[in-house]
Amino acid sequence: MDATSPEHHQVKDSAAGHSHPDQKYPIAYHFADHNGPKCVWRLERDEHTPPVIIKAGHNPVGEVLAYSFLEKFGFQRIFQKVILFSSDEGRALRQDIGSPLPPRTCIATTFIDGTPLDELHGGTDTEVQQLGELTVADALLNNTDRLPAITNNFGNLANILIDGTRVIPIDSHVTLPHPGSMYHDCLSRLFEDILSHGELCGHTPGMPAKSPRSQHTLGHLSHPMQRVVARLSTIVPLDETTLGNTLRLGARLAMFKFLSWKQADFDELRLTVCARLAGHESTCESVDAYLQHLSACHNQLQQVRDRLQLRGYLQRVSTAEIVSIASPA
Ligand SMILES: Nc1ncnc2c1ncn2[C@@H]1O[C@H](COP(=O)(O)OP(=O)(O)OP(=O)(O)O)[C@@H](O)[C@H]1O
Ligand SMILES: [Mg+2]
Repeated sequence: MDATSPEHHQVKDSAAGHSHPDQKYPIAYHFADHNGPKCVWRLERDEHTPPVIIKAGHNPVGEVLAYSFLEKFGFQRIFQKVILFSSDEGRALRQDIGSPLPPRTCIATTFIDGTPLDELHGGTDTEVQQLGELTVADALLNNTDRLPAITNNFGNLANILIDGTRVIPIDSHVTLPHPGSMYHDCLSRLFEDILSHGELCGHTPGMPAKSPRSQHTLGHLSHPMQRVVARLSTIVPLDETTLGNTLRLGARLAMFKFLSWKQADFDELRLTVCARLAGHESTCESVDAYLQHLSACHNQLQQVRDRLQLRGYLQRVSTAEIVSIASPA
C-alpha cells in the first residue's frame, strides 16, 4: 500500500535462468518498499522489447475489470495480459524472473516511465482535470488506494503516474462495498458536490488559498472534492479555488460520460473483461457482480442528476472548458 520510490528498487537475478556470465537478458527488477519486497517486477526480456510490469495479483478479476473500466473513461491502456500460473507462459515467466513467484495469476502491464504523483513538483490544469476524472472513476470502482474523495484515508498518490501531461493510473482495483457501509451515501455526496459545482457541498467560491494541510486535516467526507483539493494542494501549484474548479470540471466530465452509458456499454465492458480473463478459473459470474455494482452506481447517479436538475443545481460542461491532453514526447 505504501509508496515505492525508485531508490528502493532491487536488482534481482540480472541473468535469471541463464548460466552464461556475459548474458545480460532477461533482467528482472524486483520492486520493494520499507515493508519488504512487493509482488511486482519490471521485466526486460531483451534490448528490443519494451519492459513490462509483472504483478502477482490477489484479485485478477477485479484488477482486469478496473483497468478495462478506466480505459473506457479514456485513460491510457496499460493492461497487456493475464498470465496463468500453470500455463507454459507462466512457467517461462518464472524462469525469466528467476525468483519464486507466488502461485497466483499474474497481470502484465506496460511499463510507464513516468513520475509518481507524490514525487511531482508542478502540475497544470491539464493534469488536474484528468485527476478529477480519475476521482470519479475510482469512486465508482470503490478503489480506496488512490485519491481520498470518499474514503476515510489519506489516499496513495504513488498509484498515479504522470507521463508528459498524461495521468496514468496504475495498481487499479475494484471493491464491492460492504452491505450497510456508508459507501452509497458518500457516493451521493460526491455526485452532488460535482454536479452542482461545489454549491451543495460547502465549497466556498473565491476562498483564499490556505497553507498546505497536514495529512490529518483532509476534511470531512461530506466535502469529498475538498478532501482531494486538500490532498493535492501540497503538490500542484494552483490556488485552491482554481484547483477545486478544475478538479470538479474534470469530475463532471467523467460523470456525464458515465451518465451517457447504455446497456451496450456495460455489455461491451463485460465482453472485454471476460475475453481478457479467458482460461482463468473464475468464471464471468464474478465479473457480473462487479457489473451489477457499476449498474447500481449508474442508477444512483441518474437519480442525483434528476434531483439536482429539478432544484436548479445541475451544472453542465461546455466543450470550451475542456482542456486537451498533449501526448507525451
Ligand atoms: N505500469 C507500471 N509502470 C511503471 N511502474 C510501475 C507500474 N506498475 C507498478 N509500478 C511500480 O511498482 C510499484 C508497485 O506496484 P503496485 O503499485 O502495482 O503494487 P503495490 O503497491 O505493491 O500494490 P498493493 O497496493 O496491492 O500493495 C509502483 O509503486 C510503481 O513504482
Ligand atoms: Mg501501489
